Amino acid sequence: MQKQTKQENLTSRLGFILLSVGCAVGLGNVWRFPYIAGKNGGAIFVLFYLLFIIMIGVPIMIMEFSVGRSSRKSVASAFNVLEPAGTKWHNFKYFAMFGNYLLMMFYTVVTGWILKYLILMASGKLNNLHNDQISNVFYSVQSNVVGSVFWTILVIIIGFSICFLGLQKGSEKITKYMMSFLFLIILILIIKSISLPNADKGVAFFLMPNLESIKEIGLINIISSALSQAFFTLSVGIGSMEIFGSFINKDRKLLGESISIAVLDTIVAVGAGLVIFPACAAFGVDVNSGPGLIFITLPHVFNFMAGGQLWGTLFFLFMFFAALSTVIGVFENIIAFGMDLFNWSRKKSILINIISLSVLCLPCALGFNVLSFIHPLGSNSNIMDLEDFILSANLMPIGSIFFILFCTSRKGWGFDNFIEEANCGKGLSLPKNIKSYLTFTLPILILLLFIQGYAQMFF
Ligand code: ALA
Repeated sequence: MQKQTKQENLTSRLGFILLSVGCAVGLGNVWRFPYIAGKNGGAIFVLFYLLFIIMIGVPIMIMEFSVGRSSRKSVASAFNVLEPAGTKWHNFKYFAMFGNYLLMMFYTVVTGWILKYLILMASGKLNNLHNDQISNVFYSVQSNVVGSVFWTILVIIIGFSICFLGLQKGSEKITKYMMSFLFLIILILIIKSISLPNADKGVAFFLMPNLESIKEIGLINIISSALSQAFFTLSVGIGSMEIFGSFINKDRKLLGESISIAVLDTIVAVGAGLVIFPACAAFGVDVNSGPGLIFITLPHVFNFMAGGQLWGTLFFLFMFFAALSTVIGVFENIIAFGMDLFNWSRKKSILINIISLSVLCLPCALGFNVLSFIHPLGSNSNIMDLEDFILSANLMPIGSIFFILFCTSRKGWGFDNFIEEANCGKGLSLPKNIKSYLTFTLPILILLLFIQGYAQMFF
């Protein structure tokens, strides 16, 4: 049996950036960001979001990459390599692995819906439907037990098949193509959308500060929404990004690399808003919440539009690339867990994980049909809401605090080791005087916002 003893590297710096961007860019950018931004006061939310990306997201991403690059291992065994002898930091692996699996347990379900919609849109099956009929299509996609499970497992098989081609020839190469197309498609869609009549109203809704909604929603709530969005969009806190650090050499300092990834991720998020809101404004369609925005409202918008089938197909292709690139990125982690912990070959880890994830995705996929009587977070909530809540509002912030403690505490890897690794190579240096910010301010800030998130939810 082939055992991988030496960690494989990516072929190029661009491959590393795009694979990491691929893991970051996803559903979080395409519907979560535009919708939450619109609901939370537009520009004010965007401002806090950008602030958190820079102040919180980028430092944690640097920490994850540093841990990966120094240990040359996935998060499943990186801490065993780097922790001081006799300490127990390595137990974090269970937390992080759980986070990666949990993300895929609902993410593959939504990616399955997108794939189904891509095919429906491209084959003209959504043409000329009334609003009610479009809502029914979404309802039947969710409520069809066999269909839901089929599309989810198809996504799992597509994702793992790409990984099966190898890190360089599969994940790196295909994500590079998908990301390049994604940027091209979003550019075309933005131009189309902002040239529609009344598009300016949509842009204003998205990007102009809306003081009324600040009063209504409250500044603290806007801040805490911006924080969880920043974690989710960058996939930080559960070690998903850590693995990409283990695939690169020490040529470049990690601050510049992390900023590039965060900037590209933000461009896609803002770009998605510039596609969605002007199009909705142009046709007088209300922007509603959650999955409905892409699966009900937008197909309706495309029906009004000249050439809507083409634009709709391009949009769902863009969505599919965004979601699939995240699936591939997280699958690379999941495959590496088996390789690092049990010395499985890549092939064996892929086969076992296809089966495991096909089972693990079932609660979410069935949560919209046979298990729809389960409302874990109160009326109208479903199993997906619970999985998303556990991940975005809990594992990601708590995991981020863990990475901070590990990289700054003398009882962990320590600040000196961390900064030496982060500043290895050419590029922008992380200044040494950032130590007290990273050691004290950052974890306290995340903790306060984390507690506030709970207070907001329960009181
Ligand atoms: N970062 C991924 C996304 O935004 C999880 O969808």
